[in-house]
Amino acid sequence: MSNLYILDHPLIQSKITKLRNKDTSNKEFRELVSEISSLICYEASRDLVLDDTTVLTPLGETKGKILENKIGVVAILRTGIGMAEGILSLIPNAKLGHIGLYRDPNTLMPIEYFCKVPEDAEHCEIFVLDPMLATGGTASAAIQFIKERGIKKIKYLCLIAAPDGVKRVQKDHPDVDIYTAAFDEYLTEDGYIFPGLGDVGSRLYGTK
Ligand code: URA
Repeated sequence: MSNLYILDHPLIQSKITKLRNKDTSNKEFRELVSEISSLICYEASRDLVLDDTTVLTPLGETKGKILENKIGVVAILRTGIGMAEGILSLIPNAKLGHIGLYRDPNTLMPIEYFCKVPEDAEHCEIFVLDPMLATGGTASAAIQFIKERGIKKIKYLCLIAAPDGVKRVQKDHPDVDIYTAAFDEYLTEDGYIFPGLGDVGSRLYGTK
């Protein structure tokens, strides 16, 4: 069974509270999403294995550790893009892929309409980004499509997770750990997480 990490660091919790506030502006909302994503990335990258290296300080040579092209990122369109900037601010050399899915109106099955994964992704750990883990249907399908590209090491990073979404990802992908800033109560009838953030796309981008 995959692990669920609920990140209760005071900085994360305080920023999530501001994010929840319905009066937070689009600008501040985008900034907070980015900052929280950096903090989640910090926790999710805690177990990365580093390469040994040597470095020359002004005083002489010493041994060091370095992170070489070990992390790639795949943002689920479109709101995952809001998280990517925060991750890249910590790991600027990470390659950024995107995946877009829609639901077939007849079968209700998720269909991939766009997918570009990072170069060399099979050799990287991939962080899949989507702010809201609601039913888990999109998350599970996106992870499946990404695995079909030969990617084996995946972590799922979100801002808010609902119990249904966590259950679904844990059932379908027991090898994928989930990192979230909050674990909320339930899904409303129209699929929103309660108390949640509302419609993240419209709050991030100021669209209807
Ligand atoms: N997507 C959103 O934007 N909000 C939710 O609460 C769930 C999915």
